[in-house]
Amino acid sequence: ISPLITLNDGHSIPQLGLGTWPLDDRQVATAVVHALEAGYRHIDTAVKYGNEEGVGNGIRASGIDRGELFITTKLDGEFQGQDRAVAGLEGSLSRLGLDYVDLLLIHWPLPGRDEFVSTWKTFERLQAEGKARSIGVSNFKPAHLERLLAETDVVPAVNQIQLSPAVTRTADREFDSRHGIVTESYSPLGGSGASLLQAPILTQLGEKYGKTPAQVVLRWHIEQGLVVIPKSANSERMRQNLEVFDFALSPQDLAELADLDEGPGAGNDSDRTGH
Ligand code: A2P
Repeated sequence: ISPLITLNDGHSIPQLGLGTWPLDDRQVATAVVHALEAGYRHIDTAVKYGNEEGVGNGIRASGIDRGELFITTKLDGEFQGQDRAVAGLEGSLSRLGLDYVDLLLIHWPLPGRDEFVSTWKTFERLQAEGKARSIGVSNFKPAHLERLLAETDVVPAVNQIQLSPAVTRTADREFDSRHGIVTESYSPLGGSGASLLQAPILTQLGEKYGKTPAQVVLRWHIEQGLVVIPKSANSERMRQNLEVFDFALSPQDLAELADLDEGPGAGNDSDRTGH
């Protein structure tokens, strides 16, 4: 069971949740049932993933009280701008079968267009109305956040970015934490098809602690105070990914893991990863 992290608005988020991209409605419904059985309480989806109905079906099939769950969704470019954001959240809530989400994110800042500021002002209103308990952003760089901080009232609770021992995003994380924004890692295991989990250092550290390479990577995220949402459709691996709260990496381990960093240019933009 995951510990909770307190957000800047006073709400709590389970530090480890289930990522659901690129599962379809049918796959995700099964995955959500398995995850909730395994003890997950935090599920991450997005309009763009096209699987919110499946997430909602999984939640209802699990029989778990909605109040125990932390559900995130994201509105992509199509829903930016004032009226479109209101309609966007209505659509998500109806597909999810929920009357609020725990966290609503701007999926990405739409380069070349400036609508994220007006979208954010709408998010502030949706939060005040109780339709989104917490509000945040995804794929925002410090320059985007600077604008929100200067032109709007509510500081984002979360910035969800691609982050792993290979893609460390140190400057972005420092900016977030300086402003009380919790950084959340997507593609925390390197994403599907990535070679990160093959790194020999992960096998070595795994042997030292009786853990798998994936568990070592997830522990790395946890120890840095990141919220982390590994995706798995496999119930064994889902369980494994939640079992990362019974060991700790040493400073020496962390120094060795630093060698996995591919440098500041690493990582993909969200439009390429699909996240
Ligand atoms: P699968 O769904 O078959 O488990 P990320 O969260 O970084 O996007 O990574 C997701 C990828 O990592 C998926 O391909 C997922 O495959 C795989 N994966 C998830 N958990 C584990 C694990 N514990 N060990 C190995 N691979 C994993």
